[in-house]
Amino acid sequence: MKSISVLVIDGDATSRNYLTVMLRKKGYSILLASLGREGLISAWKDQPDFIILDPVLPDMPGLELVNRLRLDRRTTKVPCVALSSREDSQDMNALLSAGCNDYITKSSQALPRLMELIPRLLKGESTAAKKRGILVAFLSAKGGMGTSSLCANIAMCLGSEKIETRVAVMDLVLPIGSIADIVGYEAPLNLVTVAMQNPTHTTADFFKDNLPRVPNWHFHLLAGSPDPESAIQLGKTRAVNRLEGILTAIIESYDYIFVDLGRALSRISLPIIEMADVVVLIVGTDLSSAILTKTVWEYLKNQGIDPRRLYPLQNRAVGLEGLTKIELEQMTGMQVQLTMPYMSGNFTIANNRHEPVIAKFPNDSSTFTLKQAAIQIAELGQQSHGWR
Ligand SMILES: Nc1ncnc2c1ncn2[C@@H]1O[C@H](COP(=O)(O)OP(=O)(O)OP(=O)(O)O)[C@@H](O)[C@H]1O
Ligand SMILES: [Mg+2]
Repeated sequence: MKSISVLVIDGDATSRNYLTVMLRKKGYSILLASLGREGLISAWKDQPDFIILDPVLPDMPGLELVNRLRLDRRTTKVPCVALSSREDSQDMNALLSAGCNDYITKSSQALPRLMELIPRLLKGESTAAKKRGILVAFLSAKGGMGTSSLCANIAMCLGSEKIETRVAVMDLVLPIGSIADIVGYEAPLNLVTVAMQNPTHTTADFFKDNLPRVPNWHFHLLAGSPDPESAIQLGKTRAVNRLEGILTAIIESYDYIFVDLGRALSRISLPIIEMADVVVLIVGTDLSSAILTKTVWEYLKNQGIDPRRLYPLQNRAVGLEGLTKIELEQMTGMQVQLTMPYMSGNFTIANNRHEPVIAKFPNDSSTFTLKQAAIQIAELGQQSHGWR
């Protein structure tokens, strides 16, 4: 019987020799390349069953190598694993997204891991960490600051700017959510009905196929609790413990997940803030909002929230008076990223008609601000993803 062939693409002779000896012991036959270009030629000509590559090569970036392997029909499906001397999560995410099946760091654990992976990948099992969307948490230190309206409108801007991107919004404000009302959603599926279902049903695939897409809003919505009675049911049946699991499943099936946490720093919100790639903290312009925000931010920092993930957004929800951006920054010690202008009654008009602000008032300066917020939050989310 023909033995299974493994192509090793690695610029380092010691690594190549070591892998050759170890893989031969297991009965694999070996093909070797010390350059990316040689590796590509061998992969296409010799058709190995498996490819191991060091992403740091003398002649081409590992990412280019993986892209070229995946784009050619001869190697598009051949399992390939990156074996790197660097532990670089940005590099790793890029290689995995390009179609590399797994990423292993060269260490004493690398060989056993590799030996375990080869047969599994040859059988067609997927092994790499699951792809995960970017989680954006919206919260405020005080109620009525426009948190829900901004969460829905900024998510909408992102969904409409990047139409190929799947955006989901999840309303976690208890005991009663408000995003359904803002966007005009009335169907029965919501946080409570989902949490009551058997957990084996509410998988990533379930959310991928079943979260309703809201007309005109360019996102999929998991509406919040429709009334306090339902929220109490959540608590009574302990289904409230399932909310984190539901969020994790949604993260696996969407590119961006915007979560409205409202003003509560509750038992459920803290782990979500810790998990979030971006924490959007909505601050008003009044003194009490600034003081409460400072307290909340100090608390979150003490809990280990990385300040680089914070996106403070000042919202002039109540009028033109109040603190300026600079005063707010001095009081809270945060750097405000953007100020949302006061829209007088217009924001409420858009909300009451269940229309996105940018659709109802395309020429208003707030439209520009919302679009800018969407772009900045998406960029920060992508960077933040790389820091993990
Ligand atoms: N920049 C703005 N200009 C004018 N009105 C605004 C602005 N931002 C928000 N509003 C209005 O403020 C009100 C409260 O907004 P929203 O419900 O989004 O706040 P919230 O922080 O989510 O409140 P809650 O604490 O009840 O959850 C809404 O009527 C909204 O239209
Ligand atoms: Mg709200």
